[in-house]
Amino acid sequence: MIKAHGGKLINRVPEGKEREALEELAPGLPKIHLNERELRDFEMIAIGAFSPLEGFMTEDDYLAVLDLKRLAKGLPWTIPVTLAVKGDDDSAYNEGEKVALVGPEDEILGVMQIEQKYHFDKIAEAEKVLLTNDDAHPGVAYLGTIGDKYLGGPIWMLHRPKHHSFENYRLDPKETRVLFKAKGWDTIVAFQTRNPIHRAHEYLQKCALEVTDGLLIHPLVGQTQKGDIPADIRMECYTLLLEHYYPKTRTALSIFPAAMRYAGPREAVFHALVRKNYGCSHFIVGRDHAGVGSYYGTYDAHYIFLEFDRYEIDITPMFFDHSFFCRRCGNMGSSKTCPHDSSDHVFLSGTKVREMLSEGIMPPSEFTRPEVAELLMSYYTKEKETA
Ligand code: ADX
Repeated sequence: MIKAHGGKLINRVPEGKEREALEELAPGLPKIHLNERELRDFEMIAIGAFSPLEGFMTEDDYLAVLDLKRLAKGLPWTIPVTLAVKGDDDSAYNEGEKVALVGPEDEILGVMQIEQKYHFDKIAEAEKVLLTNDDAHPGVAYLGTIGDKYLGGPIWMLHRPKHHSFENYRLDPKETRVLFKAKGWDTIVAFQTRNPIHRAHEYLQKCALEVTDGLLIHPLVGQTQKGDIPADIRMECYTLLLEHYYPKTRTALSIFPAAMRYAGPREAVFHALVRKNYGCSHFIVGRDHAGVGSYYGTYDAHYIFLEFDRYEIDITPMFFDHSFFCRRCGNMGSSKTCPHDSSDHVFLSGTKVREMLSEGIMPPSEFTRPEVAELLMSYYTKEKETA
């Protein structure tokens, strides 16, 4: 099976004497309240999903990621994973000391060793990572809400952040690896999504499944922007689709609890590296992967992979062109496989679908499976009633 990024799957969940010592120490330490993104990053680091990271980034890693798309030691890594503190309350946090990391209900979740406290430049981070400094971009807006210093250093997770749903679909990297082995899959393609699965998504997945042993549908269920369909509704869509349209023995569904960054091309590489940690050998990258608005070119998330050597990334990206249903072909395709004019193509943007559903119009079956359309329609109807 494919090795974790950096060669070793990280585990920052202490056991035995080490756990006992940290449990005893934690209540007496200064506290840092993690926001929604930091909470999920903390969890992802602890379970190895962000291997080789063992904690929040120190400045050398952070700057190397911004400037070189690599960690300080040279390994490809494209997204900062950082913990911010506000200027006026950072005096309790000193380099060389430990802090307790706490969740939304003031519960202690873990401990961090502060190796470094450093100022960072929000504009530089936005421009380098998100390729814009426009406040309308959700990632730029996020930077506006956090403090102006980062704390870097290793973490230990003592207690898992609370989850209220999806218990049956929550596999950690070491568990997906066991699952793939049990199923006898050598090649596994992962599919990242933050949306209900439409026919175009299904087409990419099934093309990929023609040449791999198994498909991992791995929806991101951490923080997304307002207007995106909530994760619980999406999970209903996924399970319904799996029941009716996917081969049970060759498909697995499990959640990816991290927050969305909307960083387009950089996030595509990040998403791929993380899925490698989950044990996947292939990763689907379609049109405008992890994009938002019109900040990124349609295929920028393909081109960025050319900046790395194949062996450095190791997981194989599977690139797909913009896909659609063609009425003349009578099936799904893309500009690579369909000779017909775009007037024959059924493609609806997310905004258009939302508009249709809120006006009570069902999207056509060429765009989305009827079972999914019905589910989304009932969600939108309820939303309208409660608005
Ligand atoms: S993402 O933010 O998770 O990338 P989304 O859920 O829309 O958003 O997309 C999931 C994956 O499907 C991404 O790799 C995206 O590029 C791809 N994709 C979405 N729609 C299409 C389409 N019509 N044609 C080709 N690829 C697509």
